[in-house]
Amino acid sequence: MRKKIVAGNWKMNMTFEEGQKLTSEIVNMFQDEAIQDVTVVLNPPFPHIHPVKKLIGDVPGIYLGSQNCSDKESGAFTGEVSAKILASFGVQYVILGHSERREYFKESNELLEVKVKQALAHGLTPIFCCGESLEIRMAGTHESNVKFQLTQSLFSLSPEDFSKVVIAYEPIWAIGTGKTATSDQAQEMHLALRRHIATKYGKEIAGNTSILYGGSANPGNAKELFSKPDVDGGLIGGASLKSRDFIDIVKSF
Ligand code: G3H
Repeated sequence: MRKKIVAGNWKMNMTFEEGQKLTSEIVNMFQDEAIQDVTVVLNPPFPHIHPVKKLIGDVPGIYLGSQNCSDKESGAFTGEVSAKILASFGVQYVILGHSERREYFKESNELLEVKVKQALAHGLTPIFCCGESLEIRMAGTHESNVKFQLTQSLFSLSPEDFSKVVIAYEPIWAIGTGKTATSDQAQEMHLALRRHIATKYGKEIAGNTSILYGGSANPGNAKELFSKPDVDGGLIGGASLKSRDFIDIVKSF
């Protein structure tokens, strides 16, 4: 059985106080509303890592993630944060390959392959993002484009390592635009990705891989998206900044 996961990506938002308030509210609602069987991951900006970890404490089901890690192990790389450092602060997940990092920071599939390996080497679970632009969707090559991202960045992993990776399918045209993919569009792509994974790692590993949807998911559309057989949760941007909305999404399975 694969895990159901809802991960909140705060992106470059939240002051210290705002982050503390948001985390406390999420942790309290998660406990008060007795949420079970869903893995929740909070992915704040780096400075929040330690204080958010303290607020999460030992609450089962809520985990801490970061939004990026370095491809380097350690050393003179000013401004970078390594997987090793993150792991030492109790980080368990790391978002890699988000389209904003691919676009604004020119992260290539090859670089992401190295980052994924760094993350795994230090016990972090990569949430590996893939997704196509509107241009590619219009050209009808979205499926091959997204499969290629997986092949290039992930298919050199051993089966054991690949089994630890979570995939997030995020059509770029749906991110922050309010234009969600339909549940059928999401299902079609998730199934295509799962079949692609099966060609390399076999049906069992593919069947156990959690594939999340990201792109304008909200409390109003999450239930429909999560009802699809190959949609195992969500990577949530805007709606993860409001505790009630985020928890309502978590409760949408
Ligand atoms: O990482 C999250 C995704 O980019 C989705 O963002 O929910 O604001 O569209 P969004």
